[in-house]
Amino acid sequence: MAYLIGVDIGTSGTKTVLFTEKGEVVASYTGEYPLYQPQNGYAEQEPSDWWNASVAGIASVLHQSGVKKEDVKGIGLSGQMHGLVMLDKSGEVIRRSIIWCDQRTAKECEEIDAAVGRERMIAITSNTAVTGFTAAKILWVRNHEPENYARCAHILLPKDYIRFKLTGEFATEVSDASGMQIFDVAQRNWSDEILDKLQIDKSLLGKVYESPEITGRLTAAAAEKTGLAPGTPVVGGAGDNAAAAVGTGVVRDGRAFTTIGTSGVVFAHSSHIAIDPANRIHTFCCAVPGAWHLMGVTQGAGLSLKWFRDHFCQAEIDTATGMGVDPYFLMDQEAATVPIGANRLLYLPYLMGERTPHLDPNARGVFFGLSAIHTKKDLLRAVMEGVSYSLKDCLSIFEDMGVSIHDMMACGGGGSSPLWRQMLADLYACDVKTVGSKEGPALGVAILAGVGCGLYANVPEACDAIITADKIQHPIPENVRAYQPYYQLYTKLYPALKENYSILASLS
Ligand code: XUL
Repeated sequence: MAYLIGVDIGTSGTKTVLFTEKGEVVASYTGEYPLYQPQNGYAEQEPSDWWNASVAGIASVLHQSGVKKEDVKGIGLSGQMHGLVMLDKSGEVIRRSIIWCDQRTAKECEEIDAAVGRERMIAITSNTAVTGFTAAKILWVRNHEPENYARCAHILLPKDYIRFKLTGEFATEVSDASGMQIFDVAQRNWSDEILDKLQIDKSLLGKVYESPEITGRLTAAAAEKTGLAPGTPVVGGAGDNAAAAVGTGVVRDGRAFTTIGTSGVVFAHSSHIAIDPANRIHTFCCAVPGAWHLMGVTQGAGLSLKWFRDHFCQAEIDTATGMGVDPYFLMDQEAATVPIGANRLLYLPYLMGERTPHLDPNARGVFFGLSAIHTKKDLLRAVMEGVSYSLKDCLSIFEDMGVSIHDMMACGGGGSSPLWRQMLADLYACDVKTVGSKEGPALGVAILAGVGCGLYANVPEACDAIITADKIQHPIPENVRAYQPYYQLYTKLYPALKENYSILASLS
C-alpha cells in the first residue's frame, strides 16, 4: 500500500495527516503555537514554531501508524497564505513572520498603488494593494527595519519555509504566490512589471511550480529529524484555500465551498480567469493546473468565535473538559436555543479589519443593539450570525459577477457545526453539503502529492476517486425569510461606521 502525507501550516496550529493512497486517514497530529499581537492590528508568528510542529507531526504520524518510511510516496504542503518569511544568506530566519491578518501596512499599500497604478494592480494581481498581502509587508520591513531588509536573501511564504527546511529548495507554487501581489495571476509567474516598479529584486524569490509538481526531495538531515526516507518527494502543494478546494472536490466549474477556519472564505472554481473590476474579491491561480478561483475573505470568522470562547466562555471550557467534549460543541448548543436575529443583536466580525467586501484595515468588531435583556448566549449566536452575514456578503459578489454556483460545500472547524451550516444554507438559500473527509487542506495537498508522484493522472480524477459526499443541509423557507431583515440591516452598518473607523484608528 502507498501512503501520502499532507501538512497544513495553519494559524492556530500545524496539522499533519498520514493518508492511504485512497485518502483514508491513518494517523493525524496537530501541534499548536502562539499568535503574537504586539500592537493593535499586528499579527506575527515564529517560523521555528511551524517547523517544530511539522517535524513533530510527521514523526508522530509515522510512529502512531507503524507505516514503513519507504511506503510514504509523497508529501504535500498547505498553509496560511500571505505571511512574510525572510531568510538571510545562510537560510536563517531574520525576524518573526508578519502573517496574513496583520494590518500594519496601510501606508505601504498607498505606496504600492502609487508606484504601480491602481488599475495595473487590479489587472495583474486582481486587487489594489491589500494590507494583509505579502508585497505590502516586504515594503513595511524595508521602510521600518532597513537593517533586516539589507540582510534578506530569500523571501518565502509560510508553507514554503517548511519546504525549504525539508528539501533545501527555495520554491513556491502558483496558488500561494497569487496572494503575494508581485505575481501575474493570468500569466502564472512573477510580475516583472510590479517587481521593477516596487524595486524588489527577483532573485529574492523562489522558483514557481504548478501545485502537483515535485519541487524537491527530502534532504538527509530532514529525513533524520522526521523519520521519513531521504529523497521522499515534496510537491508544490497549495495555499490553504486552494488546498481545501481539492480536499472537498471543488475542482470543476459550478463548484464552490465556504470554509470557516480562523478566516472565513467563499471560494468558487473557474476554468477561465475572471477579475472583479470593483476590487472586492480575489482571483487567484488554483491548484488545478491552468485553472483559477474566485475568493471572498472574512478576516475574523472562526477567529471571532475563538476570541469569544477564550474571553467569555471559561464555564463552557470547564464543563466541556469534564464531559470530554469540545467547548465549541456546548457553545453551539447554547446558540441554538436563541432565535434567529439573536433577540435583535447584530455582530460585525471585523476584529482584524475586513477584506470582502470592504477592504478596510481600520474596521473593528461591533455588537449592535446590545440591551440589558441580552445574555451570553445571545452574544454567542450574534457572533455566529455576524460571521455568516459576512460570508453571505462574499457570495453576493459572485452572484453580481454572474459566476454560477450549483454546488456549495462547507468545511473548516466552523463547517463541522450543523448550526453554522444551517445558518449558511438559510442565508445563501441553497443546499450546503459536506464531504466524508474532514481533513480539507491536508487531504487536498496529499491528493496533489498523489498526482505528483504518479498515483493519479490529474487532480480532478484523483478527487473523483477519493472524495465522497456526506451530509446536506437544506434551506428552511421560514428561516430564509426570517434572516432577510437582519442581513439587510447588517449591510447598512459598515457604511454608517466607515468614517468613524478611520477616526478610531487615528486615536492614540
Ligand atoms: C486568504 C487568507 C486566509 C489565510 C489564513 O486570502 O488570508 O484564508 O490563508 O487561513
